[in-house]
Amino acid sequence: MLELLKKRRTQYALGRNLNFTEDALEALIREAIRHSPSPFNSQSSRAVILLGDASQRFWSIVREELRTILAADMLEASLDKINGFAAGVGTILFFEDQQTVHDLQKQWPLYADHFPVWSEQSGGMAQYAVWTTLANAGVGASLQHYNPIVDAKVSETWDVPSSWKLRAQMPFGSNEAAFPEKTFMPDEMRFRTHR
Ligand SMILES: Cc1cc2nc3c(=O)[nH]c(=O)nc-3n(C[C@H](O)[C@H](O)[C@H](O)COP(=O)(O)O)c2cc1C
Repeated sequence: MLELLKKRRTQYALGRNLNFTEDALEALIREAIRHSPSPFNSQSSRAVILLGDASQRFWSIVREELRTILAADMLEASLDKINGFAAGVGTILFFEDQQTVHDLQKQWPLYADHFPVWSEQSGGMAQYAVWTTLANAGVGASLQHYNPIVDAKVSETWDVPSSWKLRAQMPFGSNEAAFPEKTFMPDEMRFRTHR
């Protein structure tokens, strides 16, 4: 299992050299999210899977929005990164359904304060499950956060239900660069064991 976790890395250099059909990729993504845990099995995570032209369209929206808010020097660096994301096969938009959160708060008032936090935690688990699943299929990916600047155009372009709140974006494709070595902080700063 640990070997599966270690395979997941951030890949910015994406390409389209995958031996998967779009249907097979879609199935992997759906299964990973379906099997992710959520409080009371509430399944608040949602995903819009953008393939091919739709993924390109998403990154065009990001470029358009960044042009309205970033200074020229910052914009250039961001656009370079975005070109790497757009060079992939697709992008997964991860949402959390706020209606589910509100319904849970109504049904379980004792836990009302927890549900928004648990929804975010569930979303993170779903993202991690997809990322790890893709990595173990040899598919590179990274986790991006261009919300909320793209939210309105995303909703309009793909007719996303108003209760779905965009939380993260995961561009994916073939791995076109080696992963840099990962550094780790000292264990004694992170972990304590008592017996
Ligand atoms: C909650 C969370 C938010 C992140 N947001 C971003 C992001 O907006 N852009 C990005 O390039 N990477 C983002 N990352 C990826 C981290 O930078 C990356 O996982 C970390 O540097 C470790 O590298 P690794 O993924 O190769 O293990 C995020 C990761 C997490 C868990």
